[in-house]
Amino acid sequence: MSIVLAIESSCDETAVAVVRGECGVAAEILSSEISSQIPLHQPYGGVVPELASRNHSLILRPLVETALKNAGVTIGQIDAFAATAGPGLASSLLIGNTAAKAMACAMRKPFLAINHLEGHLLSPFVAGSQVPPHIALIISGGHTLLLRVDAASSYQKLGSTLDDAAGEAFDKVAKMIGLPYPGGPNIERSALTGNPQRFAFPRGLLHEPHLNFSFSGLKTSVLYTLPKLADLEADTPDLCASFQEAVIDVLLQKSLRAVRESGLKHLALSGGVSLNRALRRAFQSTCEKDGFTLSLSDPSLCTDNAAMIAFAALLRHLDGQHDSLETPIHPNLPLVS
Ligand code: KG4
Ligand code: ZN
Repeated sequence: MSIVLAIESSCDETAVAVVRGECGVAAEILSSEISSQIPLHQPYGGVVPELASRNHSLILRPLVETALKNAGVTIGQIDAFAATAGPGLASSLLIGNTAAKAMACAMRKPFLAINHLEGHLLSPFVAGSQVPPHIALIISGGHTLLLRVDAASSYQKLGSTLDDAAGEAFDKVAKMIGLPYPGGPNIERSALTGNPQRFAFPRGLLHEPHLNFSFSGLKTSVLYTLPKLADLEADTPDLCASFQEAVIDVLLQKSLRAVRESGLKHLALSGGVSLNRALRRAFQSTCEKDGFTLSLSDPSLCTDNAAMIAFAALLRHLDGQHDSLETPIHPNLPLVS
């Protein structure tokens, strides 16, 4: 049985988690603490890197203490320390990495540098005892990535966004129509009372033979629609519902095509956008109809958190993989080259 403590500080959430597990047995999240910086960045409509890193360094030490206390373990019982090494904001990544390396060094325990996207990718499987072969769709604020997963750490990229990430499109469209940051949950809320058929927004690259995505045309189409509206406030629900439907449609169609072409019959969704209930419902009903298995992350593991990083680190630790304390952070760290 091994216990791993991981830190996630790649963007605007400071997070620390303690996870316990052994080979072939479902991992147990002993604690998962998140200190959100959303109110700090909200006045600016997006993340301010300098504010984010300053806040990570203020909050991290008490958050590590809380994570240990809530897990009911002492720092001496931790078998390995991990941190997100990238992708993310350099100044934010550095804070979590330095803290995890310092603890590993002081406690003479191994260190693991984890790719943030691998954390998301594995998050639907935290409660299970293995990572089955499947098609993975990672949809977050910074990435939209479709992969073939044959096992943990065996990934093949099938497609990605050529411009904005799905979450970025939600955030930018929300800003355009005057909804607060982060855009995703606010667009989802407004869309609840809207008509998704009111505006026929484009489905970028849907009929292209490849599995890449593009959301910039959709974003521009929303922008060009705004001046034509008589009453933006009254039209916001229809605008949000139509935009959300266009994003879901293209994500769903491309993922299904990837599943069919792979022959794997198993799809997994992760990342902040996978929290969207309309999207979860659309994927659930289609996969059920087509006889595919759908794995969704628990809502608490969709947006950035350290439990997913600790789980990825636990799998690698149990496999005997560790990283040098000299491993650098990498703001553009690729998941697959
Ligand atoms: O995975 P995440 O926490 O951070 C990154 O790694 O980027 O994802 C954050 C993104 C933001 O763009 C946010 O607007 C989006 O996830 N998001 C949502 C919802 N909740 C968060 N998008 C659509 N619907 C939601 N309910
Ligand atoms: Zn993320």
